[in-house]
Amino acid sequence: MYTVPQLDDYSQESLEKAFAELRAAFDSEAQAPLDAGWKTFRDRWLGRTNGILTQVNEQWLKAAPAEGKREVGRRLNDAKDEIGRRVDELKVEHRDVVVAVTGVQARASFGSPSVSGTHNLDVTLPGIRRPLGTEHPVIRTMNEIVAVFRAMGYSIGEGPEIESDYYNFEALNFPPNHPARDSQDTLFVAGQEQKPARERLLLRTHTSPVQIRTMEKQPPPVRIVIPGKVYRHDTPDASHSPLFHQVEGLAVDTGITFSDLKGTLDHAMKALFGSSVKTRFFPSFFPFTEPSADVAVTCFKCNGKGCRLCKQSGWIELLGSGMVDPAVFGFVKKNGYDPEKVSGFAFGMGVDRIAMMKYEIDDISLLFQGDVRFLEQFA
Ligand code: DAH
Repeated sequence: MYTVPQLDDYSQESLEKAFAELRAAFDSEAQAPLDAGWKTFRDRWLGRTNGILTQVNEQWLKAAPAEGKREVGRRLNDAKDEIGRRVDELKVEHRDVVVAVTGVQARASFGSPSVSGTHNLDVTLPGIRRPLGTEHPVIRTMNEIVAVFRAMGYSIGEGPEIESDYYNFEALNFPPNHPARDSQDTLFVAGQEQKPARERLLLRTHTSPVQIRTMEKQPPPVRIVIPGKVYRHDTPDASHSPLFHQVEGLAVDTGITFSDLKGTLDHAMKALFGSSVKTRFFPSFFPFTEPSADVAVTCFKCNGKGCRLCKQSGWIELLGSGMVDPAVFGFVKKNGYDPEKVSGFAFGMGVDRIAMMKYEIDDISLLFQGDVRFLEQFA
């Protein structure tokens, strides 16, 4: 480390040598990585009270004999200018970068080769690339479905995934002994045997309970779609997963008819799968709709000719629907849903199945493994 030496000889040669050593010391310190940081380095050379240049001022200039003062002063000013300028440049070049490397804070100085200091990081090494996925095909499909209904003026609703028996079953007109209420089909929250049946908590088996929650909050008219996760006590296989996704829909107003249901869903299917798809409605049963219909669309892969995707039938069954059962309105009658005055339709579709057909995914478990290599295929 350089220290300012005593100067006894004020001859030209001696001054020349002393200032040259000063500059060489500065240059060599400025070359090395600024391990203690740029500020410490600046204070060492330019600090007002005890910086090296202040010491030179005290020891060389003030002590100089009268005839030597001019020459020392000139050389000192030159040194101050150059060192000052270089220190400013170093501030930019040696900007301290604190990088967390394996939990340790390493200090990296730009512009210095990494071999010269123990704490240095070679910023010329390639960085760590984070694998980027993309919007999950289920979420993408869900957003597409929701967007189609938004464009028809529907709003978007949500409800809890942990639901009570009342909303999941009772208010949807499921009879007390309906098989869906059995623990074979439904995942119940444990330890609630003491509670009355309707208060028992479960993981919702469909998004339909949000129909009731919506009508409790809001008097008619209602037009709403409800995307969300649902759960069933199913053993996982290529087409079953205990967790999957649905989009529910509900429209209630005065004078809503089955034609409105057909027109709306026909339009939605064309918007989702292309204007050439046809829809087919055939009788079905759900406790909360009467009449009920399952809806199929012409296979969007073979256009109805018959292929593996549609099992040679030309049709793909995509959703359940129906006219809201008056008994359901009975549970929210107080809020303006008099079955004599209002009518409505509802529908529900499985998002995962639609996504699997759209993107030709043959195993539902792929949707839930979180493998970025799977997601990359949909980028
Ligand atoms: N909740 C039914 C299910 O999970 C699907 C469904 C059918 C919803 C008919 C509806 C509907 O709103 O009207 O199987």
